[in-house]
Amino acid sequence: MCGIVGYAGYHEAAPFLLAGLQKLEYRGYDSAGIAVFSDKVRTMKSQGRLATLREKVDAVGGIPGTLGIGHTRWATHGAPNDINSHPHTSMSGRITVVHNGIIENYIPLKEELESQGVVFRSETDTEVVAQLFDKLYDGDLVGTLIQVIGRIRGSYALGILCTDYPDTLLAVRKDSPMIIGLGEHENYIASDIPAVLDHTRRYYLLNDNEIAVIKADSVELMDTDRNPIQRDVYTVDYDISAAEKGGYDYFMMKEIKEQPMALRTCIGSRIDNGDIRLDKIRLTEEQIKNIGRIHIVACGSAWHAGIVGKYVIEELTRIPVEVDLASEFRYRRPILSRNDLCITISQSGETADTLAALREAKANDVHVLSIVNAVGSSIARESDDVLYTMAGPEIAVATTKGYSTQLAVLYLLALKFGKIRQTIDQKTAEKLMHAMEILPDQLERLFADEEALKELAKQHAAKDHVFVIGRGIDYGASLESSLKLKEISYVHSEAYAAGELKHGTISLIEEGTLVVAVATQDQLYEKLVSNVKEVKARGAYVVAIVKEDCTDIEGVADQVFYIPKTEDIFTSTLTVVPMQLFAYYTAIERGCDVDKPRNLAKSVTVE
Ligand code: G6P
Repeated sequence: MCGIVGYAGYHEAAPFLLAGLQKLEYRGYDSAGIAVFSDKVRTMKSQGRLATLREKVDAVGGIPGTLGIGHTRWATHGAPNDINSHPHTSMSGRITVVHNGIIENYIPLKEELESQGVVFRSETDTEVVAQLFDKLYDGDLVGTLIQVIGRIRGSYALGILCTDYPDTLLAVRKDSPMIIGLGEHENYIASDIPAVLDHTRRYYLLNDNEIAVIKADSVELMDTDRNPIQRDVYTVDYDISAAEKGGYDYFMMKEIKEQPMALRTCIGSRIDNGDIRLDKIRLTEEQIKNIGRIHIVACGSAWHAGIVGKYVIEELTRIPVEVDLASEFRYRRPILSRNDLCITISQSGETADTLAALREAKANDVHVLSIVNAVGSSIARESDDVLYTMAGPEIAVATTKGYSTQLAVLYLLALKFGKIRQTIDQKTAEKLMHAMEILPDQLERLFADEEALKELAKQHAAKDHVFVIGRGIDYGASLESSLKLKEISYVHSEAYAAGELKHGTISLIEEGTLVVAVATQDQLYEKLVSNVKEVKARGAYVVAIVKEDCTDIEGVADQVFYIPKTEDIFTSTLTVVPMQLFAYYTAIERGCDVDKPRNLAKSVTVE
């Protein structure tokens, strides 16, 4: 989703802004722009890729100035064209703004301003901020900003320039992330850390309704009553190379290959001496014993992780689990009790719907435990407890290591809760812990099939439909496998609970239809084999993913991929990997931009 960068210093701002925006490309965008201030504000914008903007800037020999803001836009209000791209400047030219989020009351504000003679250029909600700021401007920059945020509703991270203040960059946020990077005689703003990593590892996190006044040699933070705020400086603790491609063509492949390492970090640090250490969570053993129901709430792949998590938690703890899409949960008046537990799952920690669902749960006095990757993100900060997935920065829009580490944390939780509630005995717990500890090595072995999966992708890349079928936990994993294909290769794919096929979907199976059958559950294996026979009889080409001792499937399926033997409840960590690789190579075959699929955003900070 949209990205913001800003620079105040003594060097040229434009190169920083363009490089910073490049680091945010992974978030997804469809146009970009920068504005740099010297004697006046010069703005350059472009629809499409950042490279086009860069060419435009180069063509005029760069844009001079040491103060500037930049933006990558993911269109919400108005088409992705040059005019609607940010930055937006007020009619007089005094105020220039970049914005992430949505100004919900922009229509009445726009009408009010238009009735006062303001002429708007774009269709965006953002331009309202620039025009309103200018209209209310009384010479006091911060005072005017306070007035503006008193009038606008919605979510926003704003970077603002004013021609009366040639050395000052202004920032404010509400429900949309913003950090202030701290450099040597230069400071920065950004919607995400990778944008500033080449320049500094030190930053402030801006909280909701906090204002930052940024100059080359100072950063002042204050609340909306202008009280100064003292803030701890955070330091980025991962290696810069973690946010670079490191020799791979795409971040997605790098992140697929990082899964063993990510799982080792996530699991290894939490299994200790026959027990599970869940960081420093506030949830007490007494509370865990008394949990009546668990509500897992998430979006996209994180929701898929939640579906697998439901099977695992119910199996090991016998606590009933409901899994909700965050966008549904927040509006369906969920029935919540005080002894329920809400688990929100989010890689970015900034997904607007998940954040709203979290707030809904908290408003009902339900304890919220979040499974998050991005340290210090909004969801992490607002939750009662956080378990970090420790996967390191994930850049590709399609999640891989983010998802597999979310599964791992759900397994750990299920095991811990099962032990505390005595629904599993110590011997079983130890067997399961051992199985978890060897999962990273087992996952690594799956990479041996990469060439075969590349070949499979070549053979089937032209197909328009792919079905992924499974039962129980395998159905949960099928949902994620199918989403990977859809997201990056634009192949229509459906995941189906295999037993449901004959109630409608089987009518879509015809000669040559590709069906991937995931069959790793001992109890359901025979049944799944029957489902495979049903689709084979209708002409499907079947690729099976099974545990390594199920060689009998070779007589039924056209091609088989084996996963190492593990506990049935943990197989999703492994079955999804061949499908990540298959989706990757299918996308390559079809000429898609793997890391930045069309219309998608890494971090969805609007509703
Ligand atoms: C976006 C991404 C998905 C992701 C979902 C939830 O739609 O494209 O890959 O699964 O958001 O993101 P989160 O950061 O909350 O896990």
